[in-house]
Amino acid sequence: MKSKRIGFGVVAAAMFGFSGVAYAECTTDVAKDDLTDAQVVELYECIKGALREGYTAQGDERATAYQSWGAASTVPGGVGNHGSRFLTTFVNDTGYLEYVRFNDENAKMPVGTVIAKESFNVNKKGLVKKGPLFFMEKVAAGEADEFGNWVYSALKPNGKVMKIKQSFCSNCHANFEGQDALGYPEEDYRIPVFSN
Ligand code: HEC
Repeated sequence: MKSKRIGFGVVAAAMFGFSGVAYAECTTDVAKDDLTDAQVVELYECIKGALREGYTAQGDERATAYQSWGAASTVPGGVGNHGSRFLTTFVNDTGYLEYVRFNDENAKMPVGTVIAKESFNVNKKGLVKKGPLFFMEKVAAGEADEFGNWVYSALKPNGKVMKIKQSFCSNCHANFEGQDALGYPEEDYRIPVFSN
């Protein structure tokens, strides 16, 4: 599915900010591209607590809520998307069963679906860095028609609201035709619930 993995470029680098704070307690001496799935999971387990502490630091309700939602991926993946970060996707009860079908023909997520995506990165020195928490929320027809009735938002690693443009997120997500603008985790990392 390489064709769906659209590069970010300079604009995205500016929008997403690559200055995530290094978290010295989680390190690896394996180069990022050579990490095995098991090693990625290990790094995720190490950073997870600090990551969530940061996201909730400003009291954002969704940053607490998503932690009890179902995960849609098995291993933090998606290197090459969202600023080459490791991503973990969670979906609230309203949308979970529909999301994990990973329908690529006629997906239609129910209104009220909220999707959260944690991110972290590994720098050249092998330090794990916290990344933003991304959200997509499906709203009723008429509320955000221009953007496929999705509202995009994100929190910085310190829990503060990130300034983003709906069009920036939507312009890329709109490419996922038949998937209701969803990118979905890489195939190898999708949670196996339905075979479609
Ligand atoms: C250059 C393309 C691109 C841009 C720009 C982009 N995304 Fe994504 N997004 C993706 C891809 C690809 C995935 C699937 C990645 C994965 O999980 O491996 C994804 C996944 C997501 C998900 C998980 C739901 C899904 O689509 O499966 C959320 C939430 C999300 N993005 C939010 C945002 C927000 C908020 C912005 C703007 C700040 C944004 N995205 C900008 C490509 C993009």
